[in-house]
Amino acid sequence: MRPQFLHRSLGLLQRVPNRSFVPTGLGRRSLSSSPRVPDFAFAFDIDGVLLRSSKPIPGAADSLRYLKEQNIPFILLTNGGGKHETERVAELSEKLEVPLDPSVIIQSHSPFAELAGALENKRVLIVGGDGDRCRQVAERYGFKNVITPGDIFMANPGIWPVSKVFRSYYEQFARPIQNPNQIDAQDPSRGLKIDAVFVYNDPRDWGLDAQVIMDVLLSSEGVLGTISEKNGQPNLPNKGYQQDGQPPLYFSNPDLWWAAAYPLPRLGQGGFREALEGVWAATTGGPSKGVELKKNIAGKPYQATYEFAEHQLMRNRSQAFGGAITQPLRNVYMIGDNPASDICGANTFRSIHGSEWHSILVRTGVYRGGEPAWVPSTIADDVQKAVEWGLKSSKW
Ligand code: G3P
Ligand code: MG
Repeated sequence: MRPQFLHRSLGLLQRVPNRSFVPTGLGRRSLSSSPRVPDFAFAFDIDGVLLRSSKPIPGAADSLRYLKEQNIPFILLTNGGGKHETERVAELSEKLEVPLDPSVIIQSHSPFAELAGALENKRVLIVGGDGDRCRQVAERYGFKNVITPGDIFMANPGIWPVSKVFRSYYEQFARPIQNPNQIDAQDPSRGLKIDAVFVYNDPRDWGLDAQVIMDVLLSSEGVLGTISEKNGQPNLPNKGYQQDGQPPLYFSNPDLWWAAAYPLPRLGQGGFREALEGVWAATTGGPSKGVELKKNIAGKPYQATYEFAEHQLMRNRSQAFGGAITQPLRNVYMIGDNPASDICGANTFRSIHGSEWHSILVRTGVYRGGEPAWVPSTIADDVQKAVEWGLKSSKW
């Protein structure tokens, strides 16, 4: 049974052009010519809220369509990625049959675009995703010297011999490594230097990707084929690990599990990171021996990702209403399916612009009932009910 407000609003909107329909559940509101500027907005998680492994979840399209009709700002805030924002939003527009602008989507790696300037000509290793789709994303962000583990494997299959079974896959997209210094174990000083490592999306070949990242982290100054002499030195910080000019490591998505087509949640990029941390701990002694894996993690639930999202929302809102905005964005309703990322992030986010984020947990994804680890403002059966709760809370 579709909630009335969305069903009727679509009907009425078709019959009464140029009138914004007020769901009677919220009481009638006088219609005026000047647009009523909402002091609230919505942030939608994608997987498990709007889509379940690429298939629209019932009510998702109607919800977005209604908010568009009402000029209520929203963004899509996902830990997913693997393709450029313009591509993802074009796919979503088609699947949901709602025209969406690239400015409404924030993917796991979207914030990395801000690093392209400083790293423009540095050699960055981009890990994850189908083929070299993530390399293409990075290049569209402005990174000019991008290599993938597939390139490295094809230049020297011995770096991870068991991936020979995937050779035909890597042949499709690997680029010859530009640097004339191939990986030369006999002459490490001529090895390939990596200046930054980014995991843009879930790795497809955990073995090769983990091996290459470990090689870089244990190397001297990020030069593949070398080993830092500082590794394991007890008198150095972190026992000498990552103390020798090794490049920074960025992950884009902490999700240990996510809602795919399979009825049970599936391991996400956070699963890969945990596996890598396990290999790192087994190699270095790990936290029990005072050695941490120095890394940066973006994505929900982290403050930086929510700050990035709030700025995008505010930009979109001011573009939509221009000078008509006389009041700040007061409330944002974050609708998510994963307590550990969506609900935790909204609950712990502290805005410098004064907006208050309210978390709404839906039952159509990772969350499967019971007391969630992160308690939301409310639990809703699905995205439509969640939007209705937000509208009611903001008396729209
Ligand atoms: O890889 C995507 C998954 O981690 C979750 O995506 O849209 O639910 O944040 P989303
Ligand atoms: Mg989700």
